[in-house]
Amino acid sequence: MKILVINGPNLNYLGIREPELYGKKDYKALVAFCEESAKQLGFDCESYQSNHEGCIVDKIQEAYGKVDGIVINPAAYTHTSVAILDALKAVGIPAVEVHLTDVNAREDFRKISYAGMACVKTYAGYGFDGYKMAMEYLKDYFCKGECSK
Ligand code: DQA
Repeated sequence: MKILVINGPNLNYLGIREPELYGKKDYKALVAFCEESAKQLGFDCESYQSNHEGCIVDKIQEAYGKVDGIVINPAAYTHTSVAILDALKAVGIPAVEVHLTDVNAREDFRKISYAGMACVKTYAGYGFDGYKMAMEYLKDYFCKGECSK
């Protein structure tokens, strides 16, 4: 089973950007954490990061027929992007939304998630661990699909 982890704008600046909020570990450490988590769960994992909305839409479309599950932190596009919401709906790949911080405890504009409307679950406020929790959720989700066949 293959998992695609998508990270949106400014997450390549992890470790530099607002470390008091997002932590001191960098994006490379996040990719390594996701690879290790995926390995433990028996998934193949590809990580992708982009600062550009259209590139994220392209990546989601390219996943169609190739990827079993998506873990996505759309970052700022969470709160603005109908295009990413529509792309997730278009491919119909089970997706779990992740945020490093607890977006519901921050500014009001972060409480709206468009991408989240196409996701089967959201984890917010667990730092890197949220990505692993998302993969565990997908593993369970796939298992349930198999069991009901
Ligand atoms: C974020 C939360 C977003 O509101 C913000 O724009 C980000 C990161 C998070 O991981 O906590 O860039 O998605």
